[in-house]
Amino acid sequence: MATILRDWSYRYQWLYDAIARTASFAVGGESRFRQLPLRGLTLDQDSTVLDLCCGSGQSTRYLVAIFENAIGLDAGPRAIQRAKENVPEASYIQAFAEDMPFPDNQFDLVHTCAALHEMQPEQLRQILREVFRVLKPGGIFTLVDFHAPTNPLFWPGLALFLWLFETETAWQLVRGDLGALLREAGFEVGEPTLHAGGSLQVIQARK
Ligand SMILES: C[S@@+](CC[C@H](N)C(=O)[O-])C[C@H]1O[C@@H](n2cnc3c(N)ncnc32)[C@H](O)[C@@H]1O
Repeated sequence: MATILRDWSYRYQWLYDAIARTASFAVGGESRFRQLPLRGLTLDQDSTVLDLCCGSGQSTRYLVAIFENAIGLDAGPRAIQRAKENVPEASYIQAFAEDMPFPDNQFDLVHTCAALHEMQPEQLRQILREVFRVLKPGGIFTLVDFHAPTNPLFWPGLALFLWLFETETAWQLVRGDLGALLREAGFEVGEPTLHAGGSLQVIQARK
């Protein structure tokens, strides 16, 4: 699965960003897409927040506009290097999401955008357990990722996108139940909020 476009999009940030911008039209533009998971949150400006799997800082940019203490974490050295250049207001750490070098109960908010679909099933479970561990009691985990469309008209677009850019793990996420996995990790979570004909889900879960 996936095509050479996947490799190119990770190699060339301009391509990744152009694809993200284009795909975001489905929810009213990239700014709206990246802020959807933060809607309705009532966290203080001095909250400690983590952008998990931050990539080149595409969502970190929106977090630093709200919060003074933002940290980006990504496993990719090139991603971290780019994030430092793109959004120097945050601090960064290169690490695996499934084994984070943070103490328990450190963050008020953990946010992750368009990343969980890259994880193998057991890796995903471990990441959710890690997020639960590093959040303070009452802390919030926000995420946006793919979901099975509820409007059939959105299936061809999603299927094409997954074929071009994603691997089997994205299909596993679409077929699965992220809410159930979050509850299994200990989170309180309601139904996801769906966008773009159901092809995107936003979840806010509480520790
Ligand atoms: C599709 S990109 C999303 C980047 C960014 N959050 C965004 O919204 O555009 C997924 C990112 O997850 C990172 N990643 C993949 N597996 C990871 C892991 N196990 N631990 C930490 N980062 C990981 C990749 O390096 C990549 O930067």
